[in-house]
Amino acid sequence: QPSTITLRAAAPFPFGAALNPNLLKANTVYRQIAAREFSSVTAENHLKMHVVHPEQDRYNWSGGDTLVVFAERNGQRIHGHTLLWHQAVPKWVRAFQGDSTAWEQLIKTHIQTVVQHYKGRIAAWDVVNEAFDEDGTLRKSIWLEHLGPDYIARCFRYAREADPAVQLFYNDYNQESSPKKLAAILAMVADFKNRGVPIDGIGLQMHTNTNQSDDRIETAVRQTAATGLRVHISELDVRINPEKKPALVPTDALLDKQKQKFATIVRLYKTAVPKAQQHGITIWNIGDGDSWIPNFCQCPDYPLPFDKAYAKKPAYDGILDGLK
Ligand code: G3I
Repeated sequence: QPSTITLRAAAPFPFGAALNPNLLKANTVYRQIAAREFSSVTAENHLKMHVVHPEQDRYNWSGGDTLVVFAERNGQRIHGHTLLWHQAVPKWVRAFQGDSTAWEQLIKTHIQTVVQHYKGRIAAWDVVNEAFDEDGTLRKSIWLEHLGPDYIARCFRYAREADPAVQLFYNDYNQESSPKKLAAILAMVADFKNRGVPIDGIGLQMHTNTNQSDDRIETAVRQTAATGLRVHISELDVRINPEKKPALVPTDALLDKQKQKFATIVRLYKTAVPKAQQHGITIWNIGDGDSWIPNFCQCPDYPLPFDKAYAKKPAYDGILDGLK
């Protein structure tokens, strides 16, 4: 029988997906599912610095605006991703020559121009993305090199200046598998609170797999929630081929394991994160065919709740189970 239940109707918090405006234009099925199933939208790539700010004096709002208009039409909350990330550095920034004052001006202008462009429309921003290494030290990046170790705090202050109402997030991955990274992020939050640096939420990307221990996921979620900040599971996907087998077949058994992992994560989020701190759960793409994972691991994988034709997989029911 046709089912009328959707993820957005079933979830007591925003349930989102990372979207690509090119797919919205090109694929009707994708567009319909994006509108029907989700109550929050994150731009997978089109608000990153190299896309939105391709030259020093030129911004390209086209992809971001397409997504924002789509989300508004569908009554969806928009989560901004991301103002500063070491993997989203435009060519002109790589070539930039200037002293520390000029670099500071560069990031301040970027952050404030983008935040102001979407003021009142984008609810929250991942201000800084992936600034820590697995060992809990600051990642060596172009930003650290030119801005110095306190740059994260200054990015948050610049964003707050540009839009006093927007929620400001720090976003990272592997908090559930790198205890030192988790500890470093929590220490940063404590330091920000001490110094009055504005921060509203933490994103746990949760690019995970069927072998990841539930205990470690629970620890990461509970410790993050204990900060009192909003908690966003911001880029959820669950790999079924963590061993990177070159010819893996998605058997019923593997898809069931994946279903259980989605259910566990969603149930944990619903029960362990206090309601007022539930920013929501965002899956990183809709269908397996659009996932970044196979390209990244150079292996077949099927990490999402929809298959490449956007048909529901067992993982979809796993999410619904977790929401019950
Ligand atoms: O559009 C070009 C295409 O013309 C070209 O043929 C193709 C060749 O590789 O590349 C295409 O661009 C790719 C783009 O995704 C669109 O698919 C880029 O190479 C590729 O680097 C880019 O990857 C994105 C990645 O971030 C880097 O920006 C992924 O889609 C996106 O899912 C991924 O998302 C990140 C989050 O922002 C932060 N957390 C980790 C997550 C996964 O890496």
